Amino acid sequence: MRKIAVLTSGGDAPGMNAAIRSVVRKAIFEGLEVAGVFNGYQGLIDGKIEQFQLGSVGDIIQRGGTVLRSARCPEFMTEEGRQKAVRQIKLHGIEGIVIIGGDGSFRGANELVKLNIPCACVPATIDNDINGTEFTIGFDTALNTVIEAIDKIRDTATSHERSFIIEVMGRDAGDLALWAGLGGGAESILLPEKEFDVTSVVNRIKKSADRGKKHSIIVLAEGMMPANELAEVLKKEANVDTRVSVLGHIQRGGSPSARDRVIASQYGARAVEALMEGKRSAAIGMRNHKVVDYNLEEVFTKREKLDLSLLDLAETLSI
Ligand code: F6P
Repeated sequence: MRKIAVLTSGGDAPGMNAAIRSVVRKAIFEGLEVAGVFNGYQGLIDGKIEQFQLGSVGDIIQRGGTVLRSARCPEFMTEEGRQKAVRQIKLHGIEGIVIIGGDGSFRGANELVKLNIPCACVPATIDNDINGTEFTIGFDTALNTVIEAIDKIRDTATSHERSFIIEVMGRDAGDLALWAGLGGGAESILLPEKEFDVTSVVNRIKKSADRGKKHSIIVLAEGMMPANELAEVLKKEANVDTRVSVLGHIQRGGSPSARDRVIASQYGARAVEALMEGKRSAAIGMRNHKVVDYNLEEVFTKREKLDLSLLDLAETLSI
């Protein structure tokens, strides 16, 4: 293998830059040429591809977002779009691609694999919803952002003796809400992975009110239901007043945490190694504190369940 490329795609995640840096520097260290593809799969189709040097990725390890930019790309969903991308790949002499992104990006990579382009996929999404890896890049930073927000909201919730619903991102996955709820000491955590039970939420609020606690924090995963809807249900069913705080895209920004920088560096380098070893369809991840690579197919075929023992623990600790 002489030349590889790297791209970021889908929703950005803090630590993507650290992963890009790792891919570029590791590739050059190994004697490969490396190109950066701008604007995700759209950039691949449009040929927005530049040769990178060591200095191309200087001063980015600490930055949020992605210097390669990101995009969601409907054109790549079409056969014609994918053929255009393959033409560009060939034109630039690219023999393998490192794709940094989430589930949709991995699906795009799978399409390239079918067209005989070797891909190594690096999981980067705040949702932590990629099968086969315990952690995705960006999850830790987003988690810290959410917990900081919960702490701040708790101050005003206490002062005004109010209940708050804090809506957390995660698409269909409850990982971010669960970890943030546990780490932020929420009274209730509502997840798509667990059936919604309004009585239990109300009982928890009442129980803590009975022991003199006049505020309550409910962390709600966006995949469960919209926060305003929950506020209406609580008002209607139990006459509980709440304030709603939808954290939104601040969860995707900011300088990556130390942990995200470290795993991004590890994953990026491992992706380059996987391509050099001749792997044509690799996903990179973390299992039992070890960086691993596994077949991309596993991401789509094995559905992993969220560890709901963390929810039991959160409920035990917030009685
Ligand atoms: O996948 C990351 C994510 O931030 C999800 O948590 C969220 O549902 C979605 O992207 C939002 O996407 P967009 O930025 O395109 O609105």
